[in-house]
Order: sequence, then structure tokens, then C-alpha cells
Amino acid sequence: MRFVSAFCVLFLAGPAQADVLHHWTQLIADKTQSFRAIVDDAQCPQIDIDGTRTQMGVRIGPTADFPNLVCTYDTRLPVVSVTLGSRNFPLRSATVDRILVVGDTGCRLKQGKPIQACNDPVAWPFAKIARAVADKDADIAIHVGDYHYRETECPEPDKCGTIHGNNWSAWEVDFFAPGQVMLSKHPFVFVRGNHEDCDRAWFGYLRYLAAEPVRTPIMCDNYQKPFVIRFDDLQLAVVDSSTRNRENYTRDRLRAMRRQFMDVLPQLDSETLLVTHTPLWGYGSKETNATDLGTLESIQREAFGAILPRLVSAVVAGDLHFAQIVDTPGNPVQITFGNGGVALYTTPHGRVDDLPVGKDVTGDLFGYNQFGFGVIDRSDSGLDVTFFDADGAIAAKCLPPTAVDSCALD
Ligand SMILES: [Fe+2]
Repeated sequence: MRFVSAFCVLFLAGPAQADVLHHWTQLIADKTQSFRAIVDDAQCPQIDIDGTRTQMGVRIGPTADFPNLVCTYDTRLPVVSVTLGSRNFPLRSATVDRILVVGDTGCRLKQGKPIQACNDPVAWPFAKIARAVADKDADIAIHVGDYHYRETECPEPDKCGTIHGNNWSAWEVDFFAPGQVMLSKHPFVFVRGNHEDCDRAWFGYLRYLAAEPVRTPIMCDNYQKPFVIRFDDLQLAVVDSSTRNRENYTRDRLRAMRRQFMDVLPQLDSETLLVTHTPLWGYGSKETNATDLGTLESIQREAFGAILPRLVSAVVAGDLHFAQIVDTPGNPVQITFGNGGVALYTTPHGRVDDLPVGKDVTGDLFGYNQFGFGVIDRSDSGLDVTFFDADGAIAAKCLPPTAVDSCALD
């Protein structure tokens, strides 16, 4: 009898004790929560869902460059407790009052660009930002894209290490290791950035963070299917703008991007945040400490900016390596947080009116030119936006109903 008991304990404990490298909860289409884990093991572990032990499925197996197993369990049923051994998965709520936004978090190593000192937590503060994000209470968090920045070899390894390339080591050091603290706290919405496009780190994104299942044969799609995340009082329409460079403004690209948005349009029936990597409106420079600022073009604005329904109360994006709110007449407010760790670009710091924020579009903006992240609070009068610095202290605040009119540095 003693032998049988011992055997049962071993049997039950075995799979849950898989060597779990990382775990998180991500929100995918509708009300579905996807509980995911990366394991250094040959099989996926079991998770406990409201006290019932459940086997996770394999999302994708190991490869030479990504030698781990990605496991998932997706459910649209409401659950109150999900654990993997001693690890808790954060859970979605039915309604949303507060949303964290963080983006463009990796450390830039790219031939031809100034290197970022990845080993210096001041020069690359994502780990600190992730801890600050974890310290805040919120219903959900959005990562607006650009996770993987270590593309080419660092010429000064004492400054930025030796890890780079499209492989697990680069994903772990650039995102998962520093990011786990915030992944453990909040259910996340993940957006695909242009660093995860078909010329760059798409495979890592597809393995770990894409909302849709991995299909075989594995290939890169320029546009992943848009999806709508539903809460009782809010929807997030997530659109893939990873393929967005100026040189890509071909008629075919514009048509494909417009079609993507048209797919999502019939699904919208209540207040919506349009969540996408590249902002529709922006002003600044894609250089650090630049003096020559100007309009930042957007292929999405060209493609579907004119047909955004009134249900869209804000566009939430990143891509530009600063934080910025832009008001334009007749359009939803543009909320941009791309200041999550990668070397900063330049935006006017504070409020400036009547700037060209798109071709033939003038707007008022409020910019924040430091590292950090944002919080969007929903209230009866609209959205208010708080800019936090990398330590999690309030740097600026914008109150509803008109975003930029009320913005002030703290
Ligand atoms: Fe970026």
C-alpha cells in the first residue's frame, strides 16, 4: 500500500514538475484566455484549473535554435484559479477599468545603428520597467510590439554581451527573462511589431506570442488575422501592422491592410480600442536627440484611417520610441507608448499644438521623451492616461474628456 501511494505521488507530481522556463496568460480572440508555458522538457506539464488537473497541449516543439517546448491550454470558460506547480497564472476579469501599456522593450543591436549598452540597466531599463509594470494593479496589460532587438553581433561584448540573432537565447535575454515579473502579474495582450515581421524575428513571435495556433507547414504571414478581445464593457480590436515601412506603401499593401481592418469592422459593437503596433498619427523623429522633427507617416492611416467607426475611442500603439498622445479633429485619440527600453527617438516634451501629425492632418500633441510605460484608466467621462517613468513614478497625466487639453507634466 505504501508503495502504491508513493507511486501515485510520483505520477501526479511528475508532469507538473517539468522544467518550466516561463509562463504567462495571454488574451486571444473573444473571451479566450491562453495559458502558456515554455518548458525545457520532452512533454508539456499539467496545470490545475479550479482544482482540476489538466494536461497542457503542445503549441510547437523544439528546433535547433529554439530548443524548448511551447505548451498551451486555451479556454473561454470563466476560471478562478490556474496554477502550474507553485506558479499562478494571472486571470482576466469580466470588465476593464485600468489598462497598462508597454512597448518596444528590447535592446538594440543592429549593424549600422549606434549600439545600446544592454548590460547597463540605465541605458537599457526594460528589467526595471517590467518590475514597475508588475507593481501596478490593472485589469490587463498590452505589449504593443517589438520584443526582439538583438539582431546582430555586439562589437563590444562588455557593453552588450554576445547574444544575438533569431534564437531562443536572444528572445530570453531581450524579453522573457526581464519580462517574466510582469507576465506573472497581469494577463497580457500581445501585438506583433515590425521587429517580428517576415524579414526579422517572426518565428520567435509565432512560437511564443502569436494569438493564433501554429499551423503546419510553418510559414510567415505578412498579416496575421486580426482579432477582437471582448469584455463586458469594452472591446480591443488587435490589428497586425508589423509590415509597415514607408517603402511598403504599395497599392497591394494598402489594400491588404484595409481588408484586414474591414474583416474586423463587423465584429465591433461597443466601445473599442484599436490596438496595433504603428500609430496612425505621430510627430517627432526616429533618431535619438534629433532637432529635425516632422510628420511620422502611417500606412494604416492611409489604409483605413478615414473609416474608423465612432465606437473606436482610442488607437493604442507603440513603434515610436517615446510616449505621445495626439488629438486630431474628428478622430479617436492616438495613445502611443514605445518607450519601454529600446534606445529612444525624439518627441516634443510636453504640449505642442497644431503640428502636422499625418499627411494633411494637423493635431495637438503631448509628448514624453523618457523611458517608461503608460496606464489608461476608463471613467464615465472618457479615458485618462498616465505616463510613468522607468521607476514607476508618475511623470505626466492627461484627464478626459479631451486628451491633450488637460495633459500636464507632474
Ligand atoms: Fe520599435
